[in-house]
Amino acid sequence: MVEKSDVEKVFFKELQWIKDEVLRNKVINVWKEAANRGNWKTLDDAPFTLLIKDSGKLIDHTKRVTNLVKVICDQRTEDLNLDFLIAGALLHDVGKLLEYEKKDGEFVIGNFGKKFRHPFSGALLAKEIGLPDGVILIIYSHSYEGDRIKRSPEAIIVNHCDFIDFEIKKSFQ
Ligand SMILES: [Fe+2]
Repeated sequence: MVEKSDVEKVFFKELQWIKDEVLRNKVINVWKEAANRGNWKTLDDAPFTLLIKDSGKLIDHTKRVTNLVKVICDQRTEDLNLDFLIAGALLHDVGKLLEYEKKDGEFVIGNFGKKFRHPFSGALLAKEIGLPDGVILIIYSHSYEGDRIKRSPEAIIVNHCDFIDFEIKKSFQ
């Protein structure tokens, strides 16, 4: 069972960047809920991606993307919503906890994941837990699901930072 304190420990630094305490708490709850619904014993177990061999941990990818978006935000003069940006970066891939499962010692896409890819399942869970639409849009549109809709500036940043991390990792496989 994954507890709130486990999530707080893993994302300790990044969670502090969310100023709104209620929003921060909801981000923690989404991670906890996804981990437990997906039957993950610890957050350490979930892989970053099945598209790259030995891709490392999902939590490490999430931290790299969140730190990347923060660096970009710090360089911008536009009126970006940092709270939404950080919450969206921390949650963009949380749906992978519902998409992936371990079968015969290997990670695979489970039955639920075959129907609902992680951008959709993550957005659904975030909606259920009461995250604002600005964060849900970032989650839903971070991958190709968002190519046909208008991404917010915060969603554009997460979309690109996610692919920067993915493509760099892929180039080393
Ligand atoms: Fe990602």
